[in-house]
Amino acid sequence: MITKEKLVINGGRKLKGEVSIHGSKNAAVALVAAAILVEGKVIIENLPKITDVCILLDTLEDLGGVVEHLGHDTVSIDCTEINKSKADKNDLNKMRASYYLVGALLGRTHSAEVIFPGGCNFGARPIDQHKKGFEALGATFAAVGGYITAKARRLIGTQIYFDKISVGATINVMLAATLADGMTVLENAAREPHIVDLANFLNMMGADIKGAGTSVIRIRGVEKLSGGKTYSVVPDMIEAGTFMIAAALTRGTITVRNIIPEHMESLTVKLNETGAVSIEEGDDYITVKGNRRPKAVLVQTLEYPGFPTDLQPQMVSLLAIAEGQGTVIEGIFDNRFQYVDQLLQMGAQIRVEGRTALITGVSKLIGSPIRAMDLRAAASLILSGLAAEGTTMVYNLEYLDRGYEGFVQKLAELGADIKRIEE
Ligand code: EPZ
Repeated sequence: MITKEKLVINGGRKLKGEVSIHGSKNAAVALVAAAILVEGKVIIENLPKITDVCILLDTLEDLGGVVEHLGHDTVSIDCTEINKSKADKNDLNKMRASYYLVGALLGRTHSAEVIFPGGCNFGARPIDQHKKGFEALGATFAAVGGYITAKARRLIGTQIYFDKISVGATINVMLAATLADGMTVLENAAREPHIVDLANFLNMMGADIKGAGTSVIRIRGVEKLSGGKTYSVVPDMIEAGTFMIAAALTRGTITVRNIIPEHMESLTVKLNETGAVSIEEGDDYITVKGNRRPKAVLVQTLEYPGFPTDLQPQMVSLLAIAEGQGTVIEGIFDNRFQYVDQLLQMGAQIRVEGRTALITGVSKLIGSPIRAMDLRAAASLILSGLAAEGTTMVYNLEYLDRGYEGFVQKLAELGADIKRIEE
C-alpha cells in the first residue's frame, strides 16, 4: 500500500535493550498458502502482521476459505470449502510469494490461475524451476497474459532435479506434491529454515515429507490433510539479523529474543570477524554488544546455510563505516545493489561492479533524504540513518511494511530517535 509517510531519524544514539523477534515472513507466506491444502481448521501462531501475509489471508477468503483473527499474531484458517482456483486480487502482484498459491491450488484442486507475482526488483527473477517441477508432476503450465496457470487431471509423484537451488521453487513444488499420487523426490532442493517450517506444518496436518533442510526432500503423497491443530511460525532470522547488525552499527547492546541462534550462525561468525562486537548466545536469544569500529571483511551471500542475501544490504551498511576495504559478493541475485546509490548520498564510498560491491569504509555517514526501493534495502538505509551524523529522512515505507512488523516502534523502544510522520 503506498503510504504518504516518511521516517525522520536523528542519528548517533546507541541502541540498548531487548527486542522480541516476530515469526518469519518467508515461512509465514508459505504456511498461509499451504492452509489451502488442508480440509479443516488450522490455527497458526506467531504470524507476523505484515502486508504480504494480510494480502494472502484476504485472498484465501476470496477463494472460499474462512479466516478468523484470534489474537495479535494468531489466526485460524479453514479451507474446507475452497470453491475457486483463480486468485486475481490486484495486491497479489506486489509480492513474490503470491506464486505459492499456484502450488497450493494445483495440489488441492488440480487447477490454478494466479495473477503474476511482483516483489523486490533484483533483476531477472525467472520461474523456470517452478514450471519444471509442476510439469514433471503432470501439470500443464503457462505464465502469459499476466497470469500463471497450471492444470492437471492427476498429479503423479516423480523425481525432480532443480537446475538451480531455489527457495520459491522448492516450496511451490512441495505444495503441489503433498497430495499427489506416489513419491516425489526433490533433488538440489533449498535448505532454508522456512522450508523446514513448511514441511513441519504439512506433516503436522498429515503429510509425509522427509529430508526438509537437506538437498533431497522426499514427499509421499497422501489422500488428504486434516486440520484441528495449531502451528507456530519459525522466528524470522532476517529480522533478528537486522537488529544484531543494528547493535554493531550503533555500538549499542541489543538482545534479540525468541530466535533460533543456530539460524544466525553465518552472521554471528561474520560479525565476530569484524572484531567489533562481543556476542553471547542462549537457547532462544543472542546478545550483541558493539564495542568498537568494525574492521572490513569479505561477505559472500549464498543459499542457506551460507550468508543470507536478505542480510546483504544491512551488512553493506555496516561495512560502509568499517576500517579498510570491504567486499560483498552477491551470490543469489543479478542486481541487488540498487540501494547503494542512496548510501553514496550519505557519504559512503562504494563501487559496484556487477555482483560485487567494493566498500571503502568512512568514519561516519551524513544524514540525508533517502528512498527505499525494496524491503531489506529499506531496513539497511534506516540502520545507516541511525548511525549517521544529523537527520535522515526515509521515503517509500510501503516496502518496510511488507516484511517488518513494528520495526520503527522496536527501534524507538531501543532508544533510537526515529519518528514516522505524515509527509
Ligand atoms: C525467496 O525468494 C525469498 N522470498 C527472498 O526474500 C530471498 O531473498 C530468496 O528466497 C533467497 O533466499 C520469499 O521467500 C517470499 P529463489 P525467491 O527462488 O524464492 C533464481 C525478502 O527480502 N531462480 O531462491 O524468489 C533467482 O532468479 C525476499 O524476504 C531461477 O533462476 O528466491 C535467484 O537468482 C527478497 N529460476 C535464485 O534462483 C527459478 O525458477 C534464487 O531465487 C527460481 C529462481
